[in-house]
Amino acid sequence: MKNEVVIVLDFGGQYNQLVARRVRECNVYCEIYSYKTDIEKIKAMNPKGIILTGGPNSCYEADSPTYSAELFKMGVPVLGLCYGAQLMMHVLGGKVERANVREYGKTEVLIDKQDSKIFQGVSPRTICWMSHFDYISQTAPGFSITAHTADCPVAAAENAAEALYAIQFHPEVLHTAQGKEMLHNFVYNVCGCAGDWKMDSFVEHSIREIRQKVGSGKVLCALSGGVDSSVAAVLLSKAVGDQLTCVFVDHGLLRKNEGDEVEAVFGPNGAYNLNFIRVNAQERFYGKLAGVTEPEKKRKIIGEEFIRVFEEEAKKIGAVDFLVQGTIYPDVVESGLGGESAVIKSHHNVGGLPSCVDFKEILEPLRDLFKDEVRKAGLELGIPEHLVFRQPFPGPGLGVRIIGEVTAEKVKIVQDADAIYREEIANAGLDRCIGQYFAALTNMQSVGVMGDERTYDYAIALRAVNTIDFMTAESAELPWSVLQKVTSRIINEVSHVNRVLYDITSKPPGTIEFE
Ligand code: XMP
Repeated sequence: MKNEVVIVLDFGGQYNQLVARRVRECNVYCEIYSYKTDIEKIKAMNPKGIILTGGPNSCYEADSPTYSAELFKMGVPVLGLCYGAQLMMHVLGGKVERANVREYGKTEVLIDKQDSKIFQGVSPRTICWMSHFDYISQTAPGFSITAHTADCPVAAAENAAEALYAIQFHPEVLHTAQGKEMLHNFVYNVCGCAGDWKMDSFVEHSIREIRQKVGSGKVLCALSGGVDSSVAAVLLSKAVGDQLTCVFVDHGLLRKNEGDEVEAVFGPNGAYNLNFIRVNAQERFYGKLAGVTEPEKKRKIIGEEFIRVFEEEAKKIGAVDFLVQGTIYPDVVESGLGGESAVIKSHHNVGGLPSCVDFKEILEPLRDLFKDEVRKAGLELGIPEHLVFRQPFPGPGLGVRIIGEVTAEKVKIVQDADAIYREEIANAGLDRCIGQYFAALTNMQSVGVMGDERTYDYAIALRAVNTIDFMTAESAELPWSVLQKVTSRIINEVSHVNRVLYDITSKPPGTIEFE
């Protein structure tokens, strides 16, 4: 059975994925298509509704993104947001002009038509997120104004008989206090959706699509054991079974026992029927890192060596038809928008892999999902919780948590200290409350005393941060008792450590990792 679907037509706005996500949160399947998508293709999908997104252009200019009036005459409900609202008016005979003042930020909107299907349950005065230069100065024939603001005569308009709705602000962003209700109203009250979509439907739908695309082709996946690549690998394995080969490179910079844990899940004794190749390249990485202390140099070495190892394995397998990447939506945004920003840290797992493998096409089954949605899909696929809820772990691994030169001995120290820290955080029930937490090995050695003996050993630094987007972060206020317990266990159980420090720096000025 095909699920009911709402289509988002992308006109280049910043929040397009958020629109799709909000619709999925209403249990309605949603996909995004370019505004260039042919009308016949749209008709063939038989959508329950169509949402037009915002965008940076002015709809009255000649080469701006547009759509033919036919879109509004198919009998399918349409909701235009921001640019989408203006375009709807423009195409249907209304007027859009440049405003004297730009409306930007949280704005009070006054609802004029309280019984509008889209504003059911919404307060008469409500805070919305505005971001526009142009404004609708005249609605198209058949439309009535349903909301306004102090500066904007048409904050919303509708032609209810034709199921056409225009909203100047952005209901998809959280700053719009009742935006979720408005989108909910659109998909249920206007489009008449039944809301029978859940994450298991995404999984089923993706498996079907992957099967169709891959046929009897060969598929290769670089598996790191992280959430995204694990979910992508399991999805593929459910779809194409042993046509899939996963290569897992153990670079010796993983957390304690992590290589074995990944192998237990995906290897020959695990739950999945896939060809799993573990490459134990620890010594090779330590060799390349010997004597290197500069953080960016370490990252480059680890990244390059990773590609070389993967390349060698891929050559053994020979040409494949598809290469799987666990790209998720935030990666897509970062690689798209990050072009002008300064490189603070080069993340080796973004880009780099494809060119070293002989393949025909890339498969990115998670490209439209946010992290929490990937986790939901992972649970749906039956992946163990300890993998699904893993905290972020950098591609270069402990290589950037050991200040200065990386050696096998230092890796062992930081692994043992980190394992104790993680265990105690979990014992205190804090493991799902903290954004990211780990132990790092400072390169500092200092004098201590243990059992009447002088020691001259390393200091371990503990870090725990709360963050939403990982761009900024605050150090987490861990209970003193937890810090004391962790400290005493590390000093007692990990050789060559005689001091434990807790890092309370925020980001900025610090970064989350130490290097
Ligand atoms: P920073 O240290 O830049 O970390 O504040 C932000 C987030 O990115 C992760 N991180 C990395 N991830 N390769 C990665 O894949 C890297 O080189 C790298 N450096 C930092 C870090 O763990 C945090 O989640």
